[in-house]
Amino acid sequence: MRKSIPALAAAAVAVAISVTSVASAAPRVTDPGLTVFTSAGCAACHILVAAKAKGMVGPNLDQLKPSTARVAAQVKKGGGGMPSYKSTLSAAQIKAVASFVAKNAGRKK
Ligand code: HEC
Repeated sequence: MRKSIPALAAAAVAVAISVTSVASAAPRVTDPGLTVFTSAGCAACHILVAAKAKGMVGPNLDQLKPSTARVAAQVKKGGGGMPSYKSTLSAAQIKAVASFVAKNAGRKK
């Protein structure tokens, strides 16, 4: 394979799609951003009830209620003890996880 980065990105998308289609047996289609949130390890460091995440390393996202832009910026650059995901997540995955967090932070379920 000549171009390994697009190939990796395509593989990641394929994994995300297959995970999503397995989960689609549930009544509600799984948000692709939820898949990124759990598979990228965000849950290990953050509380987010909508993702059943109970991590205590970083801020509680249900209390912070960050905007999509704020989540995307933090995920790209990391910092303050959080890793940067710029080289491990695709732009589409960052967008998906950012809108998932912005939409679901502060929700009870
Ligand atoms: C190793 C632990 C760790 C992981 C994994 C992690 N974070 Fe963080 N996160 C942190 C810490 C610590 C901070 C606080 C950074 C600071 O105060 O500068 C933070 C801050 C944040 C913030 C707040 C940024 C702001 O503007 O205040 C958001 C949103 C966030 N993380 C989302 C995520 C998402 C989404 C993921 C998964 C892609 C993730 N984090 C993965 C530890 C982590």
